[in-house]
Amino acid sequence: MDVNDVLVVVLAAALAGMWWRWCSKTGGVDGLPPGPPGWPVVGNLFQVILQRRPFMAPMFASRPEDSPTRLLFSVGKCTVNSAPYGPLWRALRRNFVAEIVSPHRVKSFSWIREWAVDAHLRRLRAELNAEGAVRVMAGCRLTICSILICICFGAKIPDELIREIEEVLKDVMMISLPKLPDFLPSSRRSSGSSCPRPAPCAAASSTASRRSSARGGTSSATATRGRRRRRAAWEMMSRPGEAYVDSLFDLEPPGRGKRLGEEELVTLCSEVMSAGTDTSATALEWAMMHLILDPAAQERLYDEVVAKAGKTARITEADVEAMPYLQAVVKETFRRHPPSHFVLSHAATRDTELGGYRVPADASVEFYTAWVTENPATWPDPELWRPERFLEGGEGFDTDITGTRALRMMPFGAGRRICPAATLGVLHIQLMLANMVRAFRWTPPPARTAGSY
Ligand code: HEM
Repeated sequence: MDVNDVLVVVLAAALAGMWWRWCSKTGGVDGLPPGPPGWPVVGNLFQVILQRRPFMAPMFASRPEDSPTRLLFSVGKCTVNSAPYGPLWRALRRNFVAEIVSPHRVKSFSWIREWAVDAHLRRLRAELNAEGAVRVMAGCRLTICSILICICFGAKIPDELIREIEEVLKDVMMISLPKLPDFLPSSRRSSGSSCPRPAPCAAASSTASRRSSARGGTSSATATRGRRRRRAAWEMMSRPGEAYVDSLFDLEPPGRGKRLGEEELVTLCSEVMSAGTDTSATALEWAMMHLILDPAAQERLYDEVVAKAGKTARITEADVEAMPYLQAVVKETFRRHPPSHFVLSHAATRDTELGGYRVPADASVEFYTAWVTENPATWPDPELWRPERFLEGGEGFDTDITGTRALRMMPFGAGRRICPAATLGVLHIQLMLANMVRAFRWTPPPARTAGSY
């Protein structure tokens, strides 16, 4: 080795050392926040991999402890919406997405939507003839609920049974709303009893058993593993293995070591109906109210539907996708009236800090969905219902209602716990709205005027 070789080696070593030091700086340079030192070329990649944690820690993706009443209905938090962030939630949500809202499934359920919308229009006509007016909310609830029941069980079920199920859903919703004692720590853990409030608890227990008999009966009679029994007056439509309940029979959530029991099946199916019915029907009712109060908007929507689908042909999913005004009406309704003003309660997965405050793990963290849509800096005249905002040239054009690109509205929540059925929910609303506006001219009921609303 001559002098030149030695010089080259020394120089190379010095350069490598400088490069190493530069690459592994702990941050804080140019005003940037400090970070852990990284390695040349790969930076912090190995540290991230070795941590065995996702790149973005989803801090607020869990759910808080339930009140005793709510626990009764979530059967120990074994539902997608109530499960704490972890393997159980992941398994239930993955199954939900694969069986209900994957593009393949949504397409395969189109016969359900056709059947339900036809029945919906028939019921509206009959009600109008009999009473001279229709109750939008009640009719829409029934139809949406019938679609979701059919998705769960693969069967067309008579209206009376749908009404019964829907009544129970309403009672469950009312009874499990947060009550004053839920906010009193002293009454949450009364010794020895899982039900600190005798009166609501008795009512809750009886509602829970009504729910089990309404839906448990449905599930066990609709499908048993491998073979199905037909119940009189039910029209079994899907083949074995195609209904949501079928997928649940084979599901063995991690950490449980056994398949789901009857109670859990009932709870998981009722979750689909309760999560989807009231939210969708509420959005439809608000949209109809605005279309009634704004006849020009109703006319414009009618013209768009007829131009695209004609006066009598079936309105297809592809048709509604090509109706920008219909989409604008639905988006503006979600913006102006998010069906739930708060998303479901969230909880941090571990003690953390938000806005300088300590947030203990499991504390309820409530997100108000309307704050962003009431902000005049984002939405001029936020109190006005104006679908045109969402058309080309409007301030809402290209707004993504799931908040993936930018958070300008969040009717379905945002992040990991976002509603997994947002696309399906929107599709139901668009199809029903297009059909209702094409089939009828909507006006306020007799003896009511726009001013009296
Ligand atoms: C217009 C219709 C709908 C609206 C506005 C809506 C809204 C929401 C909202 C705000 C949440 C809570 C998100 C959060 O906690 O951050 C949610 C969760 C959920 N929704 Fe929907 N939803 C709709 C339709 C549906 C339908 C049709 C289904 C079932 C087929 C459904 C199933 C669920 C489930 C399972 C969750 C819990 C997700 C989780 O915790 O991981 N939703 N939805």
